[in-house]
Amino acid sequence: MSQLLIQQYLNQLATLKKVSGTTRESVVREAFKDLLKGWARAHDLTFVPEHEVAAPTKERRYVDGALMHTLRVPFGYWEAKDSKDDLDVEIEKKFRAGYPRTNIIFEDSEQAVLIQHGQEVMRCGVEEVAALEKLLKLFFAYARPEIEAFRKAVEQFKTDLPAVLDALREMIEREYAKDLKFRKAAHEFLQHVQEAVNPSLSDADVREMLIQHVLTGEVIAAVFPGTTYHEDNNIARELHKLEATFFTGNTRFQTLKGLEPYYAAIRKAASEIQTHHEKQTFLKAIYENFYKVYNPKAADRLGVVYTPNEIVRFMIEGADWLCEKHFGRNLIDHDVQILDPAAGTGTFICELLEHFRGQKAKLAFKYQNELHANEVAILPYYVANLNIEATYAAIAGEYKEFPNLCFVDTLDNTYGLRKHKGHMDDIFGTMSDINVQRIRNQNSKRISVIIGNPPYNANQLNENENNKNREYPEIDKRIKDTYIDASTAQKTKLYDMYARFFRWASDRLDENGVLAFISNRSFIEGRTFDGFRRVIADEFNEIRIVDLGGDVRLNPKLSGTKHNVFGIQIGVAISLLVRKAKSKGCRIFYARRPEFETAEEKISFLANTKIDALEFEEIQPDKTSSWINISKNDFSSFLPIVSKSSSKQAGEKALFSTYSLGVSTNRDEWLYDYEPHRLTAKVQHLIRRYEAHSPRDATFGEDIKWSETLKRRARSSVREQFDPTRIRQSTYRPFFKTNVYLSPLFIDRPGAASQFVQQANRTIVLSDPTAQKPWLVCAVDQVPDLHFVGAAAGAICLSWLRFDDHLSIENVTAWAFDQFRKKYRPSNFGKVEPITKQMIFHYVYGVLYDPIYREKYAINLKHEFPRIPFYSNFWQWAEWGKRLMELHIGYEEIASAKLKRKDVLDEKSRKAGLAPKSALKANKESGRIVIDSETTLEGVPAEAWEYRLGNRSALEWVLDQYKEKTPKDPTIREKFNTYRFADYKEKVIDLLGRVTTVSVETQKIIEAMRKAPH
Ligand SMILES: C[S@@+](CC[C@H](N)C(=O)[O-])C[C@H]1O[C@@H](n2cnc3c(N)ncnc32)[C@H](O)[C@@H]1O
Repeated sequence: MSQLLIQQYLNQLATLKKVSGTTRESVVREAFKDLLKGWARAHDLTFVPEHEVAAPTKERRYVDGALMHTLRVPFGYWEAKDSKDDLDVEIEKKFRAGYPRTNIIFEDSEQAVLIQHGQEVMRCGVEEVAALEKLLKLFFAYARPEIEAFRKAVEQFKTDLPAVLDALREMIEREYAKDLKFRKAAHEFLQHVQEAVNPSLSDADVREMLIQHVLTGEVIAAVFPGTTYHEDNNIARELHKLEATFFTGNTRFQTLKGLEPYYAAIRKAASEIQTHHEKQTFLKAIYENFYKVYNPKAADRLGVVYTPNEIVRFMIEGADWLCEKHFGRNLIDHDVQILDPAAGTGTFICELLEHFRGQKAKLAFKYQNELHANEVAILPYYVANLNIEATYAAIAGEYKEFPNLCFVDTLDNTYGLRKHKGHMDDIFGTMSDINVQRIRNQNSKRISVIIGNPPYNANQLNENENNKNREYPEIDKRIKDTYIDASTAQKTKLYDMYARFFRWASDRLDENGVLAFISNRSFIEGRTFDGFRRVIADEFNEIRIVDLGGDVRLNPKLSGTKHNVFGIQIGVAISLLVRKAKSKGCRIFYARRPEFETAEEKISFLANTKIDALEFEEIQPDKTSSWINISKNDFSSFLPIVSKSSSKQAGEKALFSTYSLGVSTNRDEWLYDYEPHRLTAKVQHLIRRYEAHSPRDATFGEDIKWSETLKRRARSSVREQFDPTRIRQSTYRPFFKTNVYLSPLFIDRPGAASQFVQQANRTIVLSDPTAQKPWLVCAVDQVPDLHFVGAAAGAICLSWLRFDDHLSIENVTAWAFDQFRKKYRPSNFGKVEPITKQMIFHYVYGVLYDPIYREKYAINLKHEFPRIPFYSNFWQWAEWGKRLMELHIGYEEIASAKLKRKDVLDEKSRKAGLAPKSALKANKESGRIVIDSETTLEGVPAEAWEYRLGNRSALEWVLDQYKEKTPKDPTIREKFNTYRFADYKEKVIDLLGRVTTVSVETQKIIEAMRKAPH
């Protein structure tokens, strides 16, 4: 690998020299830079070009490149020189100018010199491959002692912190119980934060803030020696007072001594940090590191992750450009009030200060009056404050308090919203401390620019994680009245933090202004965000999106760490929105980075590109408010399968009068089971544990799976007896039947269940358009699960019958029946069977299996419910649909395909008294299915695999569902995990034969459809 990199370097060097016709440093150094970058990646180091180094004089000096640890502390440096210069003389000069001597390579594209600890360690010609390899290995083997110590300390910190936290919590609680002075001070502070941050905060939250305060004190002192932060800052001062009521002297020493090695390492690392920039980056690393260990759930909920400076700079320049373009003003100008509503470490404000460098008077005014920031958590609040003040001092040459940082929950502070004022109005009536004054001051301003990186932890997957974002009644209502109201999607997940911040900021921004956020990118194409797209296009006049992609869920070939600018799984986008009073209409511009571009490349692109030079595509949204992947075809002229309101209301102009979702239990492991007796045992246990919970208990244990709905039912004392008749068959996944306990109490949302409890029914199940899985459709005659089409994707159920009380009604509407009868009048089609609703039901199923339809309208199916065209030969398509339905519903009765079974005794397992080891693996190329360590099936025809439902073939669904899996729920794992594949082996082999026939027959029909006239 290393030799290969060197060879690539030499080739690139030769090409650069040849093509450019020069050996100038600025041209040929690119080759060595790439060599270092390639090598750095393997060592988990990041290459940072033009890195600032401390110099003895006040002048700024930049080394050509630095390799940085993730802790953002430099590991080594590189400086390129011109081959015409005398390299040794140049090295001397650089050291005199203050360049670091710890670990640095100088090279002039002819020779390379490595200096470590001030000593020349090695030099060689760049074309001597083996020698250059040795030099680079020495360079990368360098261990910076304080970094090593710091790394070890961080590891130790992870182990030690929980114990120290426990001790601290315990002590604080003890003191709280016995010390009146402390209690009084804590209560006063609580009152304050309840107003400013969150009315539901409790004593316990204050104690947590105190803990953060205590634990970060040392860090702050290390990074900013001599600071009197605890006395100077209004919030820190209050917490310091609280701390001083009991936590001093020996008590303090004894409690914190466990963390001393960590603090010592921080002090050591901090003492090596020379530049202001390094201090900033070091603090950011502490911010993320500390929080993730201290409270991983809060770190996720609050979105504790800093924004790379390159991105921040790009956004600031973009906002400035848009202000100038639309309003003829710049960010530095008077009356342009700027707010970062989620400050984190304060990067945006610090970069704004940098952006204003050189305009001393204006900068001072801006800093004092027109830059605002909010933060809701203590640690980032401290970091932001220190960072911003230190940055200002570094630029302006004088220290000044930053008076506009508020400790506040932005989303709760609805007072300043333009038309939608909220409760803060009254609450602040009597309060008069500095933080409240700051909030009031901010609220009194017209904000022209809102810029930042709002947090997002998309909905947690499991209620037991207890990591739900808190509710924000006013903002959530605004979301409901706007984004959700304008949406045609049925299910909405728009109470996501970033959607809330968009809502808040849109309401807060002045009638002339710019909103610049970097956030989750789901709103660009998510179907549930159609209303969001519609509304922001209404509320703004220009929208510019830079789509940075990196969504691992949409493209599993991507890697979060490699391709996503935040190293996360959810895609990211920068949005710049302009609102201009009295302007009409909205122009939307979109630019996208290539799908497989790495995070480093994306960041470097943003670092080197100005927004005005970026090529944007202008978007014309379609009728469904799609912005990208717009299909231009006749889909909208077809018959709608359902209408938006048809889940509630019959008689719509749609094919089916109602549809439902699959059953959403929210506790599948408890309410489904292949064996009725095991299901009975689980449900009885569930009932017992549920009954043991008193409606008055505020907390819920983790021994059964609680959800918001179940908690609500428990609080209202809903009870239920076990009833064996509630056990019903369910088609949980395609070609996999199991049992479900249809309980009104324990099933969160019964969905389609009610369609099946009354009498036999058939249902066409298809993917919800919001599902991020390949589309599928399949017919069932048992209760389908919400995730029938795959995990994390919803199922839409179109049943043949619907029930009104005990009346069963055909679900195909009279309107649809009429449309079909008019279209296919017997007079035009000769002697044909009269059309019935039953035939229409089959026809719909047939069309949904048509391969041409599915290819042509693939994009439409991702965005909306299917629409059904009229094909020329209705009867043929209805017949195909009927046959397919028989195959898919009656799959257990279809004659089995002749697969060859091979059994070879697994002596090892048998001797050990064990069943053969289950495998359930398909080898499509060889047409084989390995059942277990003894049995293999052979001769699966190639076309059988082609019958796919979503991301699996029908056969793979069977294999997947019968695998032994470790239950996620700890109680189920411990008490009810008795499923063994060996008990079902023969049944599965039999089923695979039948599903092979179903697949082959389905494919035959699909192929016939492909050739048929449409
Ligand atoms: C993605 S980070 C911001 C990173 C920042 N731009 C930086 O580079 O350091 C989001 C920050 O918003 C804060 N935050 C989350 N919810 C908030 C709220 N409701 N009000 C104010 N701040 C909030 C979090 O504590 C977190 O520090």
